[in-house]
Amino acid sequence: MTHAPPTSTSRVPAHVAIVMDGNGRWARQRWMPRVAGHKQGVEALRRVVRASLERGIQVLTVFAFSSENWSRPADEVSGLMDLLVLGLQREVPSLSENGVRLHFPGDRDGLSARVVQGLYAAEQQTAHNRRMVLNVCFNYGGRWDVVQAARRLAAEGREITEDSLSGAMALSHVADPDLLIRTGGEVRISNFLLWQSAYTEFVFTDTLWPDFDAEALDRALAEFARRERRFGKTSEQVADAQAPAMADTRLHA
Ligand code: IPE
Ligand code: IPE
Ligand code: MG
Repeated sequence: MTHAPPTSTSRVPAHVAIVMDGNGRWARQRWMPRVAGHKQGVEALRRVVRASLERGIQVLTVFAFSSENWSRPADEVSGLMDLLVLGLQREVPSLSENGVRLHFPGDRDGLSARVVQGLYAAEQQTAHNRRMVLNVCFNYGGRWDVVQAARRLAAEGREITEDSLSGAMALSHVADPDLLIRTGGEVRISNFLLWQSAYTEFVFTDTLWPDFDAEALDRALAEFARRERRFGKTSEQVADAQAPAMADTRLHA
């Protein structure tokens, strides 16, 4: 696939990415173990997938486990692995009924055979679905992605261009994200979609991920709809480019 800049000129973003942050703090506020926060995080993801389907979002990409999250306590890491495997077993049938196609961008090396098997099975079971793509980034890092793509091109003896690199990256099956939401109050990218977010609109919210719901998503979508995406052009050029299209609609109305 060739280089795919964000394609959406619509007010509803075609591709929404989310850094699902704040599970640990949500749990700590309730004197609960961190893994309990991650469990509620899974519920929040179910809500947001449903709401995204209803709103006609075509691609949802979530950050579930970063290259750096291995540094957490061992029991939290194994809790997250269990949640992924059990969550897939529980959710894949209904995701599939709703036309959701699953992908797991990330480094499979370093994941246990049980986890890797779960990821492949879920990808295969949902491969025919066409309504929405759900990318669950797991053992993903933006730097890992650039390096693995460059290595692949080098191994194949191919020229490195923006198009060829984009085509070798872990999200080459979708256009770049239009909107990136980060919950949990931190204002940073934490090694998420470094290459793909070149022209993405960012929305940061203090809402902790387990509290995120359809209303919170709608607030982020409303903020996105207010943004003017210029892609390097001037505001006047953007307005001029939109004007003929609007006149056209009136003519054919
Ligand atoms: C995000 O929530 C989930 C993962 C990184 C797996 P955190 O676990 O980072 O929650 P906080 O930031 O500690 O509140
Ligand atoms: C980013 O959250 C990773 C995920 C949401 C999976 P972190 O909680 O790991 O980010 P930092 O460490 O606070 O930057
Ligand atoms: Mg965090």
